[in-house]
Amino acid sequence: MIRSVVRGFGAALPKQVVTNADLESRVDTSDEWIVQRTGIRQRYIAGEGETTASLGEAAARAALDNAGLTAADLDLIILATSTPDNTFPATAVNIQNRLGMHHGAAFDVQAVCSGFIFGVTTADAYIRGGLAKRVLVIGAETFSRLLDWTDRTTCVLFGDGAGAIILEAQEGTGSNSDRGVLTTQLRSDGAHREKLYVDGGPSTTGTVGHLRMEGREVFKHAVGMITDVIEAAFAATGTTADDLDWLVPHQANRRIIDGSAKKLGIPLEKVVVTVDLHGNTSAASIPLALNVAASDGRIKKGDLVLLEAMGGGFTWGSVLLRW
Ligand SMILES: CC(C)(COP(=O)(O)OP(=O)(O)OC[C@H]1O[C@@H](n2cnc3c(N)ncnc32)[C@H](O)[C@@H]1OP(=O)(O)O)[C@@H](O)C(=O)NCCC(=O)NCCS
Repeated sequence: MIRSVVRGFGAALPKQVVTNADLESRVDTSDEWIVQRTGIRQRYIAGEGETTASLGEAAARAALDNAGLTAADLDLIILATSTPDNTFPATAVNIQNRLGMHHGAAFDVQAVCSGFIFGVTTADAYIRGGLAKRVLVIGAETFSRLLDWTDRTTCVLFGDGAGAIILEAQEGTGSNSDRGVLTTQLRSDGAHREKLYVDGGPSTTGTVGHLRMEGREVFKHAVGMITDVIEAAFAATGTTADDLDWLVPHQANRRIIDGSAKKLGIPLEKVVVTVDLHGNTSAASIPLALNVAASDGRIKKGDLVLLEAMGGGFTWGSVLLRW
């Protein structure tokens, strides 16, 4: 049985760090409010010349170096983003070109904060279906460019960045002891689309628009949706919370992360948290967190790692993999 095994990982952040104290001079907010409600202490914000493609390229190069590969070794690039450099072409082809790759294929997937889960799921389907051997999956965002910087209820929450992994086809036995992706679970329900959306687009206003969110409504649904896809991953593989080495959640809000872990009986020592450092970087948040925890030696080869996310749409999903 073919498995999609993580061969390399990498990440990239913009140069500029913006602390909560820095935001106090832009909107009526405080470090205390932001930390207490979200756990966020700082975020990185893209400056001139830094775009989704440039951050995605840097993360991709780091992942290739980590894997000991070059772009010549890839068949496919999947970029999860909701903040493309241009409406079209896909930012993935921009990154493909920046990497000097002119073979194979590259495309974007758009599932907002769940984008990396949707990207890994798509890559896994290509690999298990025999259509690709090595897939670069990137989550890259410049949400700062979609924010209404006069709206304190949203602008304090998000940041920019990129992370990437390389998935490689390897032969497995079909059991849970295999390295690689063991199960993926995807969901969406467009009935919730107006709770978290951007109020512009090429086919409606002809503008880029700004992010709008009913924060309390998102919060209300988050824990239930996250536990739904985690329980589905456990059911599909016959595993339980006790089997997990690490939970690497989408980094939106410390209270959502802690609430989901508690509901599932996952001790907080097994949860990777980077929301304090990065804020919510949407599709980039999980690969950024993976990069931190794999680089500092917490996530080791053979560990059972659960990824989960929930975001605009709503979309939500999980990936259970052995690192
Ligand atoms: C956004 C969120 C942090 C707000 O926290 P909350 O406890 O729900 O706060 P509320 O929206 O009820 O607002 C409480 C008060 O804080 C105020 N407030 C909102 N943003 C503020 C800010 N940045 N600084 C200071 N006060 C703020 C509100 O105006 C409100 O004031 P009022 O009581 O005088 O009207 C919370 O709803 C949340 O985390 N939601 C999920 C968001 C998310 O993760 N989205 C991404 C999913 S991918």
